[in-house]
Amino acid sequence: MDAAISSSRQALESRALRKVLVVYYSRTGTTKKVAETIAQALGCDVEEVIDTKDRSGLIGWLRSGRDAASRKLTTIEKTKNRPETYDVVVIGTPVWNGKASTPIMTYVSQYKDLFKEVAFFCTHDGSGEGALRDLETLCGKKPLATLALRRKQEVATGEYVGKAKRFASKVAG
Ligand SMILES: Cc1cc2nc3c(=O)[nH]c(=O)nc-3n(C[C@H](O)[C@H](O)[C@H](O)COP(=O)(O)O)c2cc1C
Repeated sequence: MDAAISSSRQALESRALRKVLVVYYSRTGTTKKVAETIAQALGCDVEEVIDTKDRSGLIGWLRSGRDAASRKLTTIEKTKNRPETYDVVVIGTPVWNGKASTPIMTYVSQYKDLFKEVAFFCTHDGSGEGALRDLETLCGKKPLATLALRRKQEVATGEYVGKAKRFASKVAG
């Protein structure tokens, strides 16, 4: 067989075999929307991290800002999927005070030793760099891909879909 055909066939086979889990936390639905688009594009499993702390309303917003600023962790509900059974774990978070959100930092702290490969995405109102950096530092791994999306301008308008699909294809291989 021609070498080029053989290597492209191998690439297709590895894409088909790569098993991906999308894990996200979302306080008000923005990150959830992106996580679902990415999971749908990949046809993969998706896990929502649920915080046991009430983060709704103004009090919840203040509490979340304070927890993120002090890098405090929280208690999350038991998750359904075992990350060690996936080739790639994609982690999604909103940005809180320039950082990754407290519930996702808690999830990553608990499971990071079980991740094989990782990719990160975040949603924000200004800048996503700090959150992506937090995830890379805590995981101790270079991500296969990263994506930062603005809530109003990209997620709410639907403009994010193309970027989310490109991100998904990098994760797929
Ligand atoms: C406590 C708190 C702090 C935030 N801090 C930032 C910030 O530092 N920079 C930023 O760009 N957006 C910040 N945001 C905005 C959120 O990151 C943004 O609205 C995100 O898309 C919300 O995602 P969600 O709907 O999935 O919770 C903050 C939001 C909250 C609740």
